[in-house]
Amino acid sequence: MTPSDAAIHSFWTEASERYLAASGPESFYALRARLVAEKIAALRPGAKVLDLGCGGGLLSVALARRGFDVYGADISSEMLAAARDATRGLLDEPNYRFRLVQGAIAPFPWRFEVVIVLGVFPYVRDHESYMRYLAGLVEPGGLLVASFTRRASLFAWKEVVSLLSRHPKPSGWRQTIHNLMTSGLWSGGVADRAHAGQVCNTRSFARLFARNGYRRVDHLDFYHWPRWDEAAANRGFLGQAAARLLGWCHVGFYVEKSVSQAPERSTRVATSWMP
Ligand SMILES: C[S@@+](CC[C@H](N)C(=O)[O-])C[C@H]1O[C@@H](n2cnc3c(N)ncnc32)[C@H](O)[C@@H]1O
Repeated sequence: MTPSDAAIHSFWTEASERYLAASGPESFYALRARLVAEKIAALRPGAKVLDLGCGGGLLSVALARRGFDVYGADISSEMLAAARDATRGLLDEPNYRFRLVQGAIAPFPWRFEVVIVLGVFPYVRDHESYMRYLAGLVEPGGLLVASFTRRASLFAWKEVVSLLSRHPKPSGWRQTIHNLMTSGLWSGGVADRAHAGQVCNTRSFARLFARNGYRRVDHLDFYHWPRWDEAAANRGFLGQAAARLLGWCHVGFYVEKSVSQAPERSTRVATSWMP
């Protein structure tokens, strides 16, 4: 683990309680997980799926309920424990299915038809080398689902205004405002402009995937307001354009381009990409 990976790891170990508390069934995160799972169910029903950066398992649960063969991995053992608990009764052998991510070692010795990295890119230092790591996890012709956070979003600005107008201001408010404006996240300490800002719009995100052999087949944009986000999958042209410009989170669905059709599921791969 590099020192920076260690910082991200300890940040998430510390933040796990707060994130899990904010991830209740009525939360924005639960809604996002449900809509992403519905989209994947339309694109690759019943696939063998890796939920990478699974957190407390919101998406894993939504996928398991839709009949997917779900596996998960995360850098935080606290998050993994929560994901195992959340999927108990829905998936067999949760202890085996949810594994710790350790450095660049693949968490499972096979590839997946679908790999999802939701809410992880802002915490990744080097997107290009992370793409190579992800490419080693996805089957040829597989689907990669990933998100980034837009710093110039309505949500980030609303958070800035509400922090500025609070009296007395909470401790660390200057740092939080800086974080929001440079990364769109409260937690800029480990997600500052240097890496969170590597992709700051939909086009640069799509280019990152295109350079690495992936073609975008669909997308969802979220404001981080459940009332507005319920419609995320059914917006008209103008609604989509507004959400793409001002929404807080963009989720892209990318297909690996090397084959025109997905191969048989659960292909066991040659292990040459493993360390
Ligand atoms: C914002 S949370 C999102 C959790 C979940 N994907 C969801 O949508 O609810 C980010 C998660 O990614 C994990 N994470 C951050 N960097 C990671 C990495 N390099 N590999 C695996 N997990 C990572 C964190 O521990 C945390 O659980």
